[in-house]
Amino acid sequence: MIDELKIHQFRNISTAHLSLAECNVLVGKNGSGKTSLLEAVFLLSRGKSFRHHEPKRYITHHQHRCAVWANTRQGQMAIQKTLDDKGFATTIIKQHGQHVSSQSVLSFALPTLLIDPSGMELLEMGSNSRRQLLDWLVFHMEHEFYGEWLSYQRLLKQRNILLKSPAIQKRLPELYAWDYQLASHAHKIHEYRQTVFNRWLGYFDKMLSCLLPHCAGLIWLSYQAGFDEKVGLFDVLRQRITADVELGYTRVGTHRADISVVFKQSGDVRFKEQAANVLSRGEKKLLITALKLSQLQLICETGIRLVVMIDDIDAELDEWAVQTLLKTLMELPCQLFITNLNSDIVSVIHDVQKQLGSTKTMAVFDVKDGTIIKRI
Ligand SMILES: Nc1ncnc2c1ncn2[C@@H]1O[C@H](COP(=O)(O)OP(=O)(O)OP(=O)(O)O)[C@@H](O)[C@H]1O
Ligand SMILES: [Mg+2]
Repeated sequence: MIDELKIHQFRNISTAHLSLAECNVLVGKNGSGKTSLLEAVFLLSRGKSFRHHEPKRYITHHQHRCAVWANTRQGQMAIQKTLDDKGFATTIIKQHGQHVSSQSVLSFALPTLLIDPSGMELLEMGSNSRRQLLDWLVFHMEHEFYGEWLSYQRLLKQRNILLKSPAIQKRLPELYAWDYQLASHAHKIHEYRQTVFNRWLGYFDKMLSCLLPHCAGLIWLSYQAGFDEKVGLFDVLRQRITADVELGYTRVGTHRADISVVFKQSGDVRFKEQAANVLSRGEKKLLITALKLSQLQLICETGIRLVVMIDDIDAELDEWAVQTLLKTLMELPCQLFITNLNSDIVSVIHDVQKQLGSTKTMAVFDVKDGTIIKRI
């Protein structure tokens, strides 16, 4: 949990110094800076923005540096991004006042989960965001996973460079030696993903029944490894070597893993469709919320405490859905940041807290032109 947060030169927030509660509600008009505050917390946790990868987009215009600092139950942590004259960014990350070399240190210490209405790509776009969703869960649940993932990415990069090399035919023995290691990391990554995915499924089904009861038993998740696990990646890569050389990159492997989200009636083989092609926008938002909240429930049960950020909570959701979402969140041991255009949400949250007898402390902040003021 973050007790105190400082933001410096981040989008339209010139400076902010906030004392936070367990449930933080941010209210303000369009363009006031609500999403920017969530983005700043996300940057501290993940080292990147969820809107743009380039720091020059989120550092306040005409400035060359932004910083986010937090005092948390895990100690102090900070991130600073600085632009040089050519627009390249350098990053300084600190924990307990000491420099740390890897962002993963802060990602472990301050896990964040974001639910935003623009996040439809999870269902509508390619496999990238679904793989990242699963990997985020595996990262927090299987601590060996990250090391394996890093080694795999490093080898994959080298392999792709080699595939493009004009001397590739002569260097095939070198490639096969790397493939052996690549396959070994791939199988471990696959095992971690499969184990965590299997545990996640039960939580997802329950959350789906709660948030989208009319779709319970109709939406099915399945995990694909990205290669034929029975044949094994080493042999698959051998069989595909001519095609990979022609393409100049590695087409199969754990970097192509995916989760399919399918709408079908149990036992009905005639009607099977990607959920993205069947559901309404509000239903898709609820489905994405069910995917994320079920991960949150699973993680909370392992004792990890998260910061959950919900941007524009009532966008595209009806009153019942907002209440159900709030009830679920209030009962989980996590810190909340909830943004909304108007203040009505404050009384809705109070009512939900009363109904549940929730003891979560609450703070309301008014956001206006990048200034964030706590209501007393
Ligand atoms: N690098 C930047 N420097 C300064 N201001 C910026 C920068 N990037 C974006 N802005 C401005 O920051 C303001 C806040 O944006 P933000 O997305 O946080 O608003 P919001 O309160 O979430 O609005 P909405 O309710 O429309 O989602 C906007 O007016 C935007 O134009
Ligand atoms: Mg916004």
